[in-house]
Amino acid sequence: RLTSLRRQTLSLFRLKEEQLQLVKARMRSGLDAGLRSKSSSTIKMLPSFVYLTPDGTERGKYLALDLGGTNFRALLVRFKKQTSRLYHKIYTIPLEIMQGTGEELFDHLAQCVCDFLDYMGLKNTRLPAGFTFSFPCEQSAIDTGTLVAWTKGFKATDSEGHDVVSMLREAIKRRNDIDLDIVALINDTVGTMMSCAHEDQRCEIGMIAGTGTNLCYMEELKNIEKIEQRMCINTEWGGLGDDGCLDDIITLYDTEVDQNSINQGKQRFEKMTSGMYLGEVVRQVLLDLTRRGLLFKGHVSETLKTPGIFETKYLSQIESDRLALLQVRSILQQLGLHGTCHDSIIVKHVCLVVSRRAAQLCGAGMAAVVDKIRENRGLDHLDIAVGVDGSLYKLHPHFSQVLKETVRVMAPQCDVTFQPSEEGSGKGAALIAAVARRKRDV
Ligand code: BG6
Ligand code: GLC
Repeated sequence: RLTSLRRQTLSLFRLKEEQLQLVKARMRSGLDAGLRSKSSSTIKMLPSFVYLTPDGTERGKYLALDLGGTNFRALLVRFKKQTSRLYHKIYTIPLEIMQGTGEELFDHLAQCVCDFLDYMGLKNTRLPAGFTFSFPCEQSAIDTGTLVAWTKGFKATDSEGHDVVSMLREAIKRRNDIDLDIVALINDTVGTMMSCAHEDQRCEIGMIAGTGTNLCYMEELKNIEKIEQRMCINTEWGGLGDDGCLDDIITLYDTEVDQNSINQGKQRFEKMTSGMYLGEVVRQVLLDLTRRGLLFKGHVSETLKTPGIFETKYLSQIESDRLALLQVRSILQQLGLHGTCHDSIIVKHVCLVVSRRAAQLCGAGMAAVVDKIRENRGLDHLDIAVGVDGSLYKLHPHFSQVLKETVRVMAPQCDVTFQPSEEGSGKGAALIAAVARRKRDV
């Protein structure tokens, strides 16, 4: 049972279909503006220099390095006729490295790569590598890219404005004990699209709903350079709203989350839709309800004041339909939030509205993209697949359903199939490296 005051707060997160249509239209204008000129749009539309989806003829051994999600992963991918095999190791990136100097961060990555090669018994081999770097990079070729701005929790100094491939090469050179041939720099969305395109040729979109949110898709080059070919564009759609165009749906809680972040005023769409921030939005609502005496008997605990207590995995657990209320209460207790069963109901409601809004916003954005692709190709109906990855999509109990349902309603002329990527973006990075090397060696 919710009192009307509580209901009013929650209703701030309930978006009407007209509002979602507006978000779709704004996403569409942002995509178009970004293609015309990057500087005038909050959506960067970065060229990836990936033109092809894989054709199945890729062979050999490749290294894939994957930075920017929850972890850093090093992978060895071996393509044979019909099959691929994958070996990987996961490394955590400590906060002090994420937020230290660029040199320290890249030295740490090189250290992880060295450990991995050692582990695989490949320390004396010079393997071709694909580098998945999940941040906005301005690329002028497949193997070079300048970091535009850090997003998510990263803020290593002396990196923005620098070529991240050179930074990694220099870190490897400094060690002087391993060698790598970095042939491709790839956003995680692009790697995810490629991983899935290996299985399904219809896959021409890659989406991440994880720590951050982003999407890439195959755009007609005639819209960019007047060439009859397609190139994958990394939209960086998380920047929608940075010019204030979402202010009518942004709540005071979203503003609070933005104010407390390390990139204030940036990635406003991402801050309403991705794993790194949803828990914080929930915490801000709970804080406000408690301060107004509507929750936890008005007792604002130190825990509730602690940023980051609600990780996505807790949202997923709390919202799980299989969980009885007593279990929700015990999760909250483990987090140090002691309340009644009725408090648990309220917390669950807050989680539900916040994550539902996130999925609907991503759905509205996806509807804009698929309609754009359909119009690009002059079709009445588009059948397309989306390779998708990220902890929010894969682990949350309702996110993927709400996302799909929103796309179905908002893009009725498109049939959109979502394909969760099986092995992350690493296989895609290796495929892109294989294609890039083939082109270079011709
Ligand atoms: C992984 C991909 O599976 O998902 C990464 O391999 C990607 O490239 C990540 O960044 C995104 O999910 P999360 O939840 O870790 O941010
Ligand atoms: C952030 C990054 C983007 C990445 C996304 C998902 O939005 O800027 O490059 O694709 O997170 O990891």
